[in-house]
Amino acid sequence: MVRDGMELRPCRDEDIEAVLSLWARSTAPRASDTAEAIALRLERDRELFILAWDGLKLVASVIGGWDGWRGNIYRLAVEPEYRRMGLGRQLVELVELRLRAMGARRMTALVLIDEPGATEFWGSAGYAHDPDTERYAKDLG
Ligand SMILES: CC(C)(COP(=O)(O)OP(=O)(O)OC[C@H]1O[C@@H](n2cnc3c(N)ncnc32)[C@H](O)[C@@H]1OP(=O)(O)O)[C@@H](O)C(=O)NCCC(=O)NCCS
Repeated sequence: MVRDGMELRPCRDEDIEAVLSLWARSTAPRASDTAEAIALRLERDRELFILAWDGLKLVASVIGGWDGWRGNIYRLAVEPEYRRMGLGRQLVELVELRLRAMGARRMTALVLIDEPGATEFWGSAGYAHDPDTERYAKDLG
């Protein structure tokens, strides 16, 4: 469970720098880790972009995605000294609950396979590697 004093709430415009700083401290960099990309994401369903705060300190994030077909999860990151407290699990379950209410019946997660503990985390959250698919990506520039 999240400790007393922690708050889970949607990301706000004024949180963008804190989010970038959390990602820089706690997860592998991605090309879309920019203030512009986060601001664009905040133009829609912010209730799926959830942050965990310990007082004034941002300690975890998750971004859910709903395209009307599948629920997706991106940018799950927990501050290193806040790991193994159930925070990651709680954020994923909250996003799943909200996505289910929107109509999602199947979830996919992009798993960073070089992150220590990531595959174990997703396995423990009920996600299985799908041997029939591989991720293909294209940058549109
Ligand atoms: C992966 C990550 C999000 C897990 O967050 P967390 O808050 O520590 O996870 P939880 O405490 O909710 O763990 C739930 C369960 O996942 C499994 N798990 C989590 N981290 C693990 C690790 N390092 N090794 C083995 N199992 C792990 C355990 O079964 C754990 O339950 P337990 O603590 O009762 O044994 C966190 O380590 C992280 O931010 N890593 C860097 C970024 C990343 O890898 N993001 C996900 C990839 S997209």
